[in-house]
Amino acid sequence: MQTRPNWLNTAIFYEIYPQSFNDTNADGIGDIQGIIEKLDYIKGLGCNALWINPCFQSPFGDAGYDVEDYLTVAPRYGTNEDLAKLFQEAHKRDMHVLLDLVPGHTAVTHKWFKESMKAEKNEYTDRYVWTDSIWEEPGNMGCIRGISDRDGSCAVNFFSHQPALNYGFYQPDPEKKWQQSMDAPGPVATREAMKDVMRFWLKAGCDGFRVDMAGSLVKHDEEGRGTIQLWQNVREFLDKEFPAAVLVSEWGEPDKSLEGGFHMDFLLHFGPSHYNDLFRCDEPWFSGRGKGDITAFWEKYQESYRKSCGGLICIPSGNHDMDRMARRLDREEMKIAFAFLLTMPGAPFIYYGDEIGMRYVEGVTSVEGGYGRTGSRSPMQWDDSLNAGFSTASPARLYIPQDSAEDRPNVAAQIDDPDSLYSEVKRLIAFRQSHAALRNDGEIGFLQMNNYPLAYMRKSGEESLAVVINPSRESKVWECHAQLGQPLYNIEETLVRTDGGWLVPPCSAGVYQL
Ligand code: NOJ
Repeated sequence: MQTRPNWLNTAIFYEIYPQSFNDTNADGIGDIQGIIEKLDYIKGLGCNALWINPCFQSPFGDAGYDVEDYLTVAPRYGTNEDLAKLFQEAHKRDMHVLLDLVPGHTAVTHKWFKESMKAEKNEYTDRYVWTDSIWEEPGNMGCIRGISDRDGSCAVNFFSHQPALNYGFYQPDPEKKWQQSMDAPGPVATREAMKDVMRFWLKAGCDGFRVDMAGSLVKHDEEGRGTIQLWQNVREFLDKEFPAAVLVSEWGEPDKSLEGGFHMDFLLHFGPSHYNDLFRCDEPWFSGRGKGDITAFWEKYQESYRKSCGGLICIPSGNHDMDRMARRLDREEMKIAFAFLLTMPGAPFIYYGDEIGMRYVEGVTSVEGGYGRTGSRSPMQWDDSLNAGFSTASPARLYIPQDSAEDRPNVAAQIDDPDSLYSEVKRLIAFRQSHAALRNDGEIGFLQMNNYPLAYMRKSGEESLAVVINPSRESKVWECHAQLGQPLYNIEETLVRTDGGWLVPPCSAGVYQL
């Protein structure tokens, strides 16, 4: 297992979409100074680490995931100095910051790509995955062609304006000379260039990276073996030069990413995890209707946990790519969902605004390649002033229109209300942090897997706790004859002994001494 810095064992992350968090210069879009000014808010909630979505120079065809210059902060957010100041201000508060590294592709406007399109051979000729002829397509993701002097088609990694960087092919087809092996000079140079990017920001003071589409780099690599090797090589470099640097993968297959040297991987709305069954499907497991099915999720989770060799599997509350949790769950259901998220192992990740139940904004026109994701990226709602306190710009200038409902949730209304979602999340975080068994690296044992209720054990050293959750509106029986202590934390009623075991009240979540 990758050794990890101590702080990761108690890290609780807050994901910030910089466009939409806090605008301090009244241009309708969030900025780095805005994040600095809200660090105390984030710390007050109990989060002690940040993941910031890409904030680098970009044509913003994919909200910054189309990087034009990895080493320069986009002027709309501020300067490199502002970002360095954010690192310092976070560290002063004992908080850590992960940047978003996008190693799989760049924008078409990146200098590397412009050079790579030239007919004459140069340093960047092999920086991207190109075929030898405009008439040959590189693979099934589509390609960019017809805009270069060079003869060839360039593979894309996501949208059709995001050319795929060349890390080589795990098993190049000998008939296709353009498919280079992972150790060919072009792929090696790409890998080294990405290390330079990491070096640059780690020297500037960041604590590590969330890595975009980390599993996508090596081509023709169905099992991920080549990509795992690639990341092991990157980890070796980090261990030499920046041993404390943290890597979190957007891969969605922890058995692979953790072997690659990542400290943590996310469960995601894609991949085999069944994460969506819990929060984002027609009958989410956390809905009070009680018609969901958590069994496939648990099966996969247990399998990944067994294979994870102590690496961390993180279950986010949401992110900028998926519907807000509040699209399917109401406030009380979200409290129960957070009780789960904040008692599971792995570092919790809270997507900005989920702590107050911000809604998915329906019917907004796509902004910067957001499409259906745009509704989950609307500006943060701080209070009931103009633009919910996000910006003093005229509402028409906001990056994305806000939730227009009169009762839209905001921080100011919830922060002192003990009954609010915010207060529940804050209490849960404080509770988690005060129990060794609930730490990110505490063990988990699976006590009851038959859908409703859910019961699992968390353990560290001497401490063993049982977490028992029943989001449905009907009481459920947990067939367990163990003695339980008084509840250390509970939402709604506590368990009652019955002949068959324990009766778990409706819409409840509790943590008990085992
Ligand atoms: C995953 C990111 O989270 C998403 O927002 C982006 O569009 C794609 N990767 C492409 O970089």
